[in-house]
Amino acid sequence: MHWPLPSGNVVPPPRPTWACGAMVVAAATLLTATLWGAQDKAGAPTPAPKDNKPAEYVGSDTCQGCHEDIFAAFQKNPHHEVETNKRYKYDGKACESCHGPGSKHAESADAADIRNPAKLKPAEADRDCLVCHLNKPTQVGRINGSHAKNEVACVACHSVHKNGPNGLVARKTAEVNQLCAGCHSDVWASFQQPFRHRLPEGAMSCVDCHNPHGSFLPHNLQTMDANEPGCFKCHGDLAGPFAFEHAPVKLDGCMACHMPHGSPNAKMLTRNQVRFVCLECHSNLPTPTAASNPVIGSIPPAFHNLFAPQFQNCTVCHQKVHGSYVDRGLLR
Ligand code: HEC
Ligand code: HEC
Ligand code: HEC
Ligand code: HEC
Ligand code: HEC
Ligand code: HEC
Ligand code: HEC
Ligand code: HEC
Ligand code: HEC
Ligand code: HEC
Repeated sequence: MHWPLPSGNVVPPPRPTWACGAMVVAAATLLTATLWGAQDKAGAPTPAPKDNKPAEYVGSDTCQGCHEDIFAAFQKNPHHEVETNKRYKYDGKACESCHGPGSKHAESADAADIRNPAKLKPAEADRDCLVCHLNKPTQVGRINGSHAKNEVACVACHSVHKNGPNGLVARKTAEVNQLCAGCHSDVWASFQQPFRHRLPEGAMSCVDCHNPHGSFLPHNLQTMDANEPGCFKCHGDLAGPFAFEHAPVKLDGCMACHMPHGSPNAKMLTRNQVRFVCLECHSNLPTPTAASNPVIGSIPPAFHNLFAPQFQNCTVCHQKVHGSYVDRGLLR
């Protein structure tokens, strides 16, 4: 890329040499100070003072002079609203809402004189964005979200200067999946299993179940009606409230029996046969005597003879395994 430098601009001073020189001087001073046992550092030479005046706002037109492409593309950016709308207090100087006051950089054309969010620590970069984006509905809980804690900055997922349909925000399901899969390849691999939601076909995306900005539930899970699991957005028929609940559906959640990212087992179950899912919890088999009249067991007095094939497919009888409106035994 070629930026037209303003006429009369001199070649910037050779900084590396200067820095080396400063280090030698500093080292020599330190040595001297140690030898003389001097305590105060006031006498140590400070690096040749740059202009200490804080940079000032110069306006987006000034940036345009050297960054014509970015400036032109910015006219179609959702952030162009910042340029025109007075309520953000950056009208006429939107570039500097993210890059900070630019007078020094506009003079020196030196990268060191301007803030580039991509080069900041994630938490610092986020702070810039949150000046305007805090407490918006999508950012609920964001500060405690796993991405923030693990230093995945806003700019890791949002390329501010990319235009086009999927520039700033990935919206189409396939694009969102691609974005997420880029870092979570192991999760994407789960969606290649035989039984799974249809993400690879683009029918759904990760953000149907996860809020990338954070959530009150663990794993950044989407919520519905305050704190109900987001699964009910689509599986509302299983939400109840039921007169006869199946305890784990409410208490342990769907993941007690299902693998939401995909499974080798039908209905995305955790086990390859339904009964093994059930017996994980319902295996407290009492000794099968006539007196104890156990419900589940393997020997005839037990009502559920697990050796008998007709009792092996639990959900043939217990059809309402997610909860029933009418039957305590979840039979109908
Ligand atoms: C006189 C020309 C000039 C002007 C005016 C100018 N820039 Fe730059 N800018 C440059 C050049 C040249 C570079 C590349 C510097 C480098 O890579 O060392 C650059 C780089 C940048 C970078 C990248 C820094 C990095 O860390 O890589 C940002 C951000 C930037 N400019 C923003 C701005 C903003 C905002 C304005 C308006 C306030 C502005 N520039 C005005 C010439 C200019
Ligand atoms: C909403 C915040 C925001 C605004 C407004 C903004 N930028 Fe940026 N800019 C960024 C971020 C973030 C980056 C880091 C690269 C990235 O994520 O796309 C960046 C990178 C740059 C770069 C480095 C180029 C590169 O490809 O790495 C330049 C130059 C730049 N911006 C100039 C501008 C100019 C000129 C304007 C105004 C027309 C502007 N920016 C407005 C956030 C912003
Ligand atoms: C000066 C205020 C301001 C700052 C700083 C700012 N934004 Fe924005 N942002 C806005 C406005 C205004 C909009 C457009 C209207 C809206 O969605 O509220 C917007 C929209 C967006 C959108 C949604 C675009 C769409 O298509 O719906 C994203 C994503 C976004 N900003 C990301 C960022 C990121 C990332 C940063 C930090 C690098 C940032 N913003 C910094 C004001 C700001
Ligand atoms: C892990 C990736 C990721 C991170 C990190 C991330 N976002 Fe997003 N963001 C997305 C995705 C994906 C969408 C689109 C969501 C959708 O379609 O439901 C989005 C949407 C948005 C929107 C548009 C909301 C709307 O519905 O119009 C804004 C604004 C936004 N993000 C701002 C931010 C800000 C500010 C940060 C940092 C504090 C951030 N994002 C961090 C992935 C991310
Ligand atoms: C730049 C890399 C990156 C991108 C892109 C990304 N993530 Fe993450 N994500 C991480 C890191 C790092 C963690 C924390 C470590 C971990 O749990 O794997 C994480 C954690 C998570 C978690 C686990 C939360 C927890 O508490 O267990 C979820 C859910 C998640 N990401 C969903 C998404 C979704 C959805 C998208 C796409 C919108 C996405 N991620 C995009 C890097 C990324
Ligand atoms: C059908 C809903 C659903 C979809 C779609 C979904 N997830 Fe999840 N995800 C979950 C649930 C529920 C958990 C919590 C699992 C648990 O508690 O054992 C989870 C956990 C996670 C975790 C943390 C634990 C782990 O398994 O690593 C990450 C990371 C994650 N999801 C990323 C993604 C990504 C990336 C996508 C898209 C490719 C995605 N998820 C799509 C429901 C979903
Ligand atoms: C965006 C809508 C949506 C969300 C959110 C959603 N699902 Fe689904 N789910 C579907 C659709 C559509 C099907 C139908 C199967 C298909 O896609 O072929 C399905 C099927 C299923 C199946 C049965 C698969 C089969 O073989 O019949 C299970 C189990 C399931 N989902 C569990 C969950 C769980 C658990 C969650 C929450 C973590 C969840 N779903 C969130 C849309 C959703
Ligand atoms: C106690 C174990 C268990 C829990 C907890 C559970 N399920 Fe299921 N689910 C099953 C079994 C077993 C099947 C298969 C039923 C069959 O064989 O017909 C199933 C089937 C499904 C199906 C396929 C269609 C249907 O209605 O049969 C969907 C969708 C589903 N579950 C969603 C969910 C959601 C969403 C949650 C959380 C709210 C959840 N399940 C919690 C055991 C469970
Ligand atoms: C995560 C543990 C867990 C799993 C897995 C599980 N259950 Fe349950 N189930 C329970 C608990 C806890 C109760 C409530 C027991 C109570 O109230 O005494 C219960 C209650 C029941 C009841 C009603 C008993 C009554 O009289 O209230 C039936 C029927 C039942 N489960 C069938 C099943 C079937 C069929 C499966 C397999 C699809 C299954 N359960 C999987 C934990 C589980
Ligand atoms: C042939 C039909 C049938 C099959 C198959 C079946 N059950 Fe039952 N189950 C029943 C009936 C009937 C009851 C009594 C319901 C009642 O008391 O209302 C019952 C009761 C239960 C109870 C409640 C016990 C109690 O203490 O009240 C549990 C738990 C249970 N079954 C689990 C299972 C499991 C696990 C399987 C699979 C291994 C299974 N059932 C297979 C018909 C069946």
